[in-house]
Amino acid sequence: MPAPDRPRVGVDVYLEWLAREQIPVTEDFGVDLLKVPTARWARYETDAAAVHLKGRGDFLNMFVLDIAPSKSTAPQRHLYEEVLYVLDGRGSTTIETRDGRRHSFEWGPRSLFAIPLNTRYRLFNGSGSARARLVSTTNLPAVMNMFHDESFVFANDWDFAGRVGSDKYFNGEGDFIPIRPGNHLWETNFVPDLAAIELKPWSERGARGSNIMFILADGTMHAHISEMPVGTYKKAHRHPADFHVMCVTGTGYSLLWYEGDSDWVKVDWKHGTVFAPPDAMFHQHFNTGATPARYLATAYGSLRYPFTEGKRNALFGGVSTSVKEGGNQIEYADQSPRVHELYMKETAKNGVTVRMEGLVA
Ligand SMILES: [Fe+2]
Repeated sequence: MPAPDRPRVGVDVYLEWLAREQIPVTEDFGVDLLKVPTARWARYETDAAAVHLKGRGDFLNMFVLDIAPSKSTAPQRHLYEEVLYVLDGRGSTTIETRDGRRHSFEWGPRSLFAIPLNTRYRLFNGSGSARARLVSTTNLPAVMNMFHDESFVFANDWDFAGRVGSDKYFNGEGDFIPIRPGNHLWETNFVPDLAAIELKPWSERGARGSNIMFILADGTMHAHISEMPVGTYKKAHRHPADFHVMCVTGTGYSLLWYEGDSDWVKVDWKHGTVFAPPDAMFHQHFNTGATPARYLATAYGSLRYPFTEGKRNALFGGVSTSVKEGGNQIEYADQSPRVHELYMKETAKNGVTVRMEGLVA
């Protein structure tokens, strides 16, 4: 009990819980997930770390799980949503639902999957010699702060049967749900390889780009993947915090700045990089490599369940409208000339030909 002269106010129950778990925490604007230091997490019986990005927002965190060769995580079930992305290694996941159904699937680099809420699951490293490293984006901070009761979150036997989905969602298949360019949906629980999934053209964000959005395990957690062709970059835009951006293929950089700033933050990215644009910070993504660049973004508030008004607006076109028309996107014609100048220099270093003809004067 707190002493009477130390009133219990201003508490973040998630951070209190995390301190008791005694795993390392990495905090930064951007992070190389492949280099995040991990240590034994008794709860999972594997090495792990928490990652807190500056733009993680009020609801989300990340966990890095580093599974030793031939080892597995201890069985888990919990009342928060979790979207996992495989950074390195190969293995499998088993998921047991309350009706006795047991699902398992094999993952490798660039796999993406979600654990249906409160189902019992384990992660297995399938290699006898190499470690496996996965990163999860979770809404544990939101859930822990809402209920502030650890047992309710980790020892709750409620069956969310409606979130499990069809058997095919566990074997790499899914349902394509056409909405509109930029919003087309792929509903599943497991994507074997984000580098291989077919994307749909999305012209509004520029650069002849393409994307697809995901509904994973009928969740409130959002994910989407976007691709920029060689020699191109997207338009700058801004939206609420907590989109965790991870490079999947290729190389490039992003610029981030607040309205009125005279300079920007530059984040160079490659496989393993993650950063989260903070609330209302403009950001712009640039492909500088000789191959198309794909990035994954995870966030709170999905296209099906946007959860906040800010996400509802961001996901349904508010970000694709010019700031001149009250939106949150900077058209190519309105961007600082320095943006294109820097891009010309950065691509020249790699001998890449810029393909922005017809887009930037
Ligand atoms: Fe964004």
